[in-house]
Amino acid sequence: MNRAYRKTIIAGNWKMNKTPAETRALINELRPLIQRTKWCETVVCVPFVDLPNALKASRGCRISVGAQNLHFEPSGAFTGEVSAEMLSSLGIKYVIIGHSERRQYFGDTNEIVNKKVLAASAAGLRPILCVGESLTEREYDVTREVITTQLKMALQGIDAAAMKKIVIAYEPIWAIGTGKTATADQAQEICNLIRAFVRAKYGARVARAVSILYGGSMKGSNAAELLSKPDVDGGLIGGASLKAEDFAEIVHAANQ
Ligand code: PGA
Repeated sequence: MNRAYRKTIIAGNWKMNKTPAETRALINELRPLIQRTKWCETVVCVPFVDLPNALKASRGCRISVGAQNLHFEPSGAFTGEVSAEMLSSLGIKYVIIGHSERRQYFGDTNEIVNKKVLAASAAGLRPILCVGESLTEREYDVTREVITTQLKMALQGIDAAAMKKIVIAYEPIWAIGTGKTATADQAQEICNLIRAFVRAKYGARVARAVSILYGGSMKGSNAAELLSKPDVDGGLIGGASLKAEDFAEIVHAANQ
């Protein structure tokens, strides 16, 4: 973390969990636990149907609300999809784009991820852009190339002003939901690579200001070590974001 230059962000990715009533209950439980954490922005990215309740329950506290996906077209015959404007008109601030589960199960290619980042930015949403390598790619020692390609394609057509609003999450696929966390040094190496990419494309000022998160089995017991690294500005949390106490523990580690 480097608070002199950029925001620390702990974002929960609830994935396909929690009903609207459970959403209200979890946020109500979380609120008192993270009252004195002004150095850290807390975000909950919830399923579409939970967004209204998440917004209501988080009113008047420091929790921001995000979605987990969107469609890149503004409107039209796309049954089952939700547009960027629908989200922004609700008052949603963040949207996760390019999560590895969407890339893996729902065919989100780098090109589609790029279109979604452009649509989100145009609608005033802050994308949380996910990048990450598979275990095979790590074993073949092509992690840096994979991440660079994902960034190059996802950020095509994004100018410096839009880049300032984008959060990047480095999520090694082999660490997601597996209990296997990247070491703090591994996380730092790739978060540093991401910042260097942003610096080369957008200049030092933008690179210094962009928040880069780590995601993949982050929890209370390993958060402080990961966050002690200079280029790790927060976390994208799956499993541990579903229990208020576990999530609050990470938020407190980030608030130190
Ligand atoms: P995890 O998920 O914390 O359960 O590993 C992280 C993510 O998928 O964003």
